[in-house]
Amino acid sequence: MTCLGIIGGSGLEHFPELEGSVSLSVATDWGTPSSPLQKGQLGGVEAVFLSRHGETHSIAPHLIDYRANIAALAEQGVEAIVAVNVVGGIDPEMCPGDLVVPRQIIDYTYGREHSFFDGREQPLQHIDFTYPYSESVRERIVSNAIGLGLNLHSHGVYGVTQGPRLETAAEIERMARDGCDIVGMTSMPEAALARELDIPYACLALVVNPAAGLSETEISMDAIDQMITEKMAEVRRLLVAIARSFDQ
Ligand code: HPA
Repeated sequence: MTCLGIIGGSGLEHFPELEGSVSLSVATDWGTPSSPLQKGQLGGVEAVFLSRHGETHSIAPHLIDYRANIAALAEQGVEAIVAVNVVGGIDPEMCPGDLVVPRQIIDYTYGREHSFFDGREQPLQHIDFTYPYSESVRERIVSNAIGLGLNLHSHGVYGVTQGPRLETAAEIERMARDGCDIVGMTSMPEAALARELDIPYACLALVVNPAAGLSETEISMDAIDQMITEKMAEVRRLLVAIARSFDQ
């Protein structure tokens, strides 16, 4: 029996699909997670939901206690994590409304607490991070999306920026030259921390805007909100299907 962890990003602060859920306000050695954990049943398996930006979407990407979040999920015994992120599209094929399951990361963040192994509280330990996302969790997301008839890009490079501001056009041009396909603010250090604790982790990204400088107009926060409202129901359905697939 698998226990699935789900981390909700912007637009996914609650997950009422969880059946019989209880709210757990926990503390970890690393701090308090962004939100209480919602623990219940999803698609026949146990699941734990955490809202990355807090229940009222009040915690900025650079201020999230990623260590507390991952430690809290680990303490609940999650055996896999699906992390939902909204992103901007850099690859012209990755348009608003598209789902992407990235395979690689380039980390542009700075100043975030990004390791459990700081040599003080925990002995120093290096991890392999050649492939930052779990291939088996990625495949599960992709196959369930295909099963539901959803359009999805099964590869891509996620460039993680510091935020909370969006990027300049020149920064996006540089990121495109670096090979980034999508840009967001929250996959790091989350993915690396999950790897440090050996929890298979993958990202389900929803493209909500063309990245800076890639459309005729400036980026509209209203248009982003509208895209989130339109598409998050699809993401929710996919999460339920993914959970159900762990029960088979
Ligand atoms: N840049 C960074 N993060 C984002 C974006 C973006 O354009 N859209 C949604 N999250």
